[in-house]
Amino acid sequence: MPRTVSHPLFARLYPRINAFAEAHGSLDHRRELLEGIRGRVVEVGAGAGANFRHYPEHVEQLIAVEPKPRLRALAERAAGDAPVPVEVQTGLAEALPVADGCADAVVLSLVLCTVPDVAATLAEAARVLKPNGEMRFYEHTVSPRPRHARLQRMLDPVWRRLGGGCHLARDSERAILDAGFAIERVRRFDFRPNGRRNPSSPMIIGEARPSRAILERAEA
Ligand SMILES: C[S@@+](CC[C@H](N)C(=O)[O-])C[C@H]1O[C@@H](n2cnc3c(N)ncnc32)[C@H](O)[C@@H]1O
Repeated sequence: MPRTVSHPLFARLYPRINAFAEAHGSLDHRRELLEGIRGRVVEVGAGAGANFRHYPEHVEQLIAVEPKPRLRALAERAAGDAPVPVEVQTGLAEALPVADGCADAVVLSLVLCTVPDVAATLAEAARVLKPNGEMRFYEHTVSPRPRHARLQRMLDPVWRRLGGGCHLARDSERAILDAGFAIERVRRFDFRPNGRRNPSSPMIIGEARPSRAILERAEA
């Protein structure tokens, strides 16, 4: 399991990259991701807290986990302006600093592309969720078009280096199913911030719940 996550250049640039994406449509994605979410929520790899202002008032507590100090400091600042109570915590997706079965919802927002261990991240999401809890996800993913997917795989090594460990061609929808979640809703689309398809255009937004298999494992 990784103990630290260090990509200082990416941490410096990410808020600007995000501001560009938000100015070209990703604000709507973030609102869609969080619509109707309620109760105690754990956001994994919260970055600079770009989602915080979109949490609806029915959220009683948001625990935002972020390993990178620079992004965490920005998240602390964003927490002050959030419409819901936010607690920013240091931690890793693969070992969330949160008790078993305490969350009504877990949010994964542009994070499955980057975490070193996707299966461990999803296992942790399942662990901290209440049995009737939900997981919301917003991720860029491998393209359903074979040619575009080939391009993604080709660019992946360079992209990872420049993008703070971000993988271009991960099949996050498959990983969510493989982890034992049942996907209740998913919207697959191309995000083209400047009108053209780019390597990270293919995206998914949706909602999943722990399947019976996960719940039985937790009870055993
Ligand atoms: C592309 S940014 C997304 C940030 C934010 N979730 C958003 O929607 O803007 C990827 C985030 O994943 C975080 N991250 C990378 N590895 C991680 C890990 N092992 N555990 C938790 N977060 C991690 C990074 O620090 C960064 O904040």
